[in-house]
Amino acid sequence: MRLIIEKDYKNVSKWTANYIAQAIIKSEPTREKPFVLGLPTGSTPIGTYKELVRLYKHGVISFENIITFNMDEYIGIPQNHPQSYFTFMRENLFSLVDIKKENINIPNGSADDLEAECLAYEEKIKAAGGIDLFLGGIGSDGHIAFNEPGSSLKSRTRIKTLTQDTIIANSRNFGHDLTKVPKTALTVGIQTIMDAKEVIVVVNGYKKALALKNTVEGNVNHMWTCSILQMHPHAIIVSDEEATVEMKIGTVKYFKEIEAGNINPATQLYI
Ligand code: GLP
Repeated sequence: MRLIIEKDYKNVSKWTANYIAQAIIKSEPTREKPFVLGLPTGSTPIGTYKELVRLYKHGVISFENIITFNMDEYIGIPQNHPQSYFTFMRENLFSLVDIKKENINIPNGSADDLEAECLAYEEKIKAAGGIDLFLGGIGSDGHIAFNEPGSSLKSRTRIKTLTQDTIIANSRNFGHDLTKVPKTALTVGIQTIMDAKEVIVVVNGYKKALALKNTVEGNVNHMWTCSILQMHPHAIIVSDEEATVEMKIGTVKYFKEIEAGNINPATQLYI
């Protein structure tokens, strides 16, 4: 696992977007061999999306040959609901870049047969050749996508019941009215994320400090599902200083030193 510690949220977003841009450019995607990108929602990746849009507008990257798979979607609200993840992605990324509509994949939380939808989603990822890079965020309780504490570390795309903590956290987008927050969601599983060739997770702010500590310093444990990243051969966590406050000083120093001595860090900033 690489832990990149940047001074603030802006730099976390910049680093992450440039890393993703570099991965896309390196893979030289074509129509026949597209780059497959896994994507999250939440407030954390918004800065990264802004930077990706900037990179697109400056002609550094194109989304023409990129296929995307989103991590999750609420059940019980229509796609065009202002708080659906479908709407979030359209507003924060898809309407702002040259991605083809047919290359966008988001689990359909309004499908008649939700179980069939989950199976089909996994099949679609497989048919696309697997995910090259999965971008993610972490909930305060350590969930990744909607894999809440206690989720099987071998799980795949399925229906999940949200915890009260997550419902409360996400109620900020529903006028703080808990009754308006969907109680269930479709989510890729932990194993779906682990199958990606690379995983990059963005973390910021004091409220994520305990989750980051458990991700980096804790044991691999289903109560902090993000800790599974320790088992991924190519996982990167990009954090701001604030989110590191629960970790040991020695741990923070250790990862900073490794990155300072990294002869090939992915810190090339295109713009
Ligand atoms: C939701 C999403 C997660 C996201 C988490 C944290 O529960 N399903 O993918 O990582 O929220 O969100 P935020 O970045 O807003 O803190």
